[in-house]
Amino acid sequence: MLELKKKVNFAFIRNDVRNLVSETQEGVERVKTIIKDLKDYARTNSSASYLPSDIHLGLKSTLNIANNQIKNRATIHLDLGDLPLVECAASQINQVLLNLIVNAAQSIPDEKEGLITIRTSSDDASVYIEVEDNGQGMSADVLQKVFDPFFTTKDPGKGTGLGLSVSQKIIQDHAGSLTVVSTVGVGSIFKISLPITQTKSGPDKTHHPTASSAQK
Ligand SMILES: Nc1ncnc2c1ncn2[C@@H]1O[C@H](COP(=O)(O)OP(=O)(O)OP(=O)(O)O)[C@@H](O)[C@H]1O
Ligand SMILES: [Mg+2]
Repeated sequence: MLELKKKVNFAFIRNDVRNLVSETQEGVERVKTIIKDLKDYARTNSSASYLPSDIHLGLKSTLNIANNQIKNRATIHLDLGDLPLVECAASQINQVLLNLIVNAAQSIPDEKEGLITIRTSSDDASVYIEVEDNGQGMSADVLQKVFDPFFTTKDPGKGTGLGLSVSQKIIQDHAGSLTVVSTVGVGSIFKISLPITQTKSGPDKTHHPTASSAQK
């Protein structure tokens, strides 16, 4: 009897280990895919050109893309100022806007009428873009981690937790800043500031043969 019990337990453990190994393999595959995506992203980043771009044009196309995620969840209110052309990698800025808008839409509880306000303004040196929602907001604990890679409060498989960390890196690469203020139960405001011109040469210009370092 004892022998049999041992056998049964052994079979159980063996199965368990087998499941564990296959789950671990799946996990490793997922991480591999994520790292590949990150590398691809970094590559497009290093070859991105910083060209004078119309932020409002990018915003409007981004809103069209996000429309599916937003409709039935929130109304968009646009409060757009006068913006000069901004020296940036427009597709990357659009990626940031998309993530902020989708996050905003996802933060709105089902029973609440969502409102996402997007504000733009500028001064001599910078443009400012704010994405404000009346969603669930964030506790101090969550706020501390929002920009950490892989931090997510979404269900497993729903969010990668990379949206904001990638967004922050994009904005920092542009010598700008991405910050947030939030109140639980009231909502959140993500604020982007972007310099109008890039003082450092963009990555594509750094290796240009006419750059002073190349002439020495
Ligand atoms: N507007 C917001 N309101 C409330 N919480 C937010 C908001 N934006 C982000 N968060 C919190 O920050 C976390 C991280 O956001 P991030 O965009 O980096 O990842 P994610 O949205 O969870 O996943 P993914 O972007 O891959 O879909 C979210 O899971 C959520 O908890
Ligand atoms: Mg996100």
